[in-house]
Amino acid sequence: MPDSKYASVHYSKYLELDKILDAQHPRSEALGVEAHDEMLFIITHQAYELWFKQILYELDSVLEMFRRDVVDERSIGTAVARIGRINEILKVLVAQLRILETMSPLDFLDFRNYLLPASGFQSFQFRKLEATLGLGTKGRITYGQKDYKEPFAERQRKELEAIEEGESLCSLIERWLERTPFLQFGDFDFAQAYRQAVKNMYESERQAVLDADIPEEHKQLRLRMLQANQEYLESVFDPAFHQKLLDEGKLKLSHKATMAALFINIYRDEPILQTPYRLLLGFVEMDELLTTWRYRHAQMILRMIGKKMGTGGSVGYDYLKETADKHHLFFDLTNISTLLIPRSEKPELPEDLKRKLGFYFSVGK
Ligand code: HEM
Repeated sequence: MPDSKYASVHYSKYLELDKILDAQHPRSEALGVEAHDEMLFIITHQAYELWFKQILYELDSVLEMFRRDVVDERSIGTAVARIGRINEILKVLVAQLRILETMSPLDFLDFRNYLLPASGFQSFQFRKLEATLGLGTKGRITYGQKDYKEPFAERQRKELEAIEEGESLCSLIERWLERTPFLQFGDFDFAQAYRQAVKNMYESERQAVLDADIPEEHKQLRLRMLQANQEYLESVFDPAFHQKLLDEGKLKLSHKATMAALFINIYRDEPILQTPYRLLLGFVEMDELLTTWRYRHAQMILRMIGKKMGTGGSVGYDYLKETADKHHLFFDLTNISTLLIPRSEKPELPEDLKRKLGFYFSVGK
């Protein structure tokens, strides 16, 4: 402990560089084998783990804000800023793979065999990150029917279990969305009004196709596609059908939360909804960046080891590519775009609701 608040502190001591810079010990060096690139391999992974630590730190603070029954509106701006910070880190994590790719597959083979069975499967912080966001055991693709917690010590497994049993960022955001007011305001029922607007939009599109000067077979094809789209949209407004998709694991957000996310997206220009909209946008971007990392990592693996199996025992590339396709976390928020209609078609809000969503004040009163 420092003697006083203002006691001088040395750069190296403050950053504990003795520990950090003494933590790179290439196995090839210990074995007396020449493998120049192992240092880069170690430092790259360490840099990732440090950034994972920072992401988890930011994420925990955001979770804390949303755990409260009433989320203080002022904290939403802070959450937006912290999610934005996480996203900037994720961009660095994606870009950082290029540095590792300066190592050629042959250079990697110089030391790869000394790493067994070390693998990204044993990155506790990465698994913690996934579980905190909402990817636990359920909904995860596995390799060789193994539990993803298997590579960890008892204490770490318990920690992951506790995270899975608690509320994830996804479930907290769902609860927050479900509490969104204004979906039902006096006579205004957002879901009903929106459903009607969707119907109107399809009716005018249908009319445009019917009036178009195109061959009959093209017309019929377009009409069939329009019908399919309309049926999908109609089903979204049906809570029972939505529940069925939830039960099948095809959706994550409840019907109420989805309607709220739709409302925020549609009326994002109303002043009160701007910050919630930016928050939802931050989650969509986070999902996209994590998926980009998964694809880039898989792509790098293909280039580095081809279709060889991984040191952790998975099939390697095919497994990783599948995680990129299936381990989306905020897919329901991204999928809101499927439900959007042009601004010109959106239902008009009642005047008193508009006032509530704005920043009204009277000068001189
Ligand atoms: C030459 C570089 C790399 C190779 C060849 C490689 C290879 C692999 C392979 C084959 C897997 C599948 C598991 C297995 O069977 O071992 C894997 C998983 C993983 N790797 Fe890498 N990796 C490399 C670099 C990195 C880096 C720099 C990180 C950053 C932390 C990383 C993090 C992970 C994570 C977190 C997983 C688990 C992914 C999941 O299960 O969704 N890897 N890696």
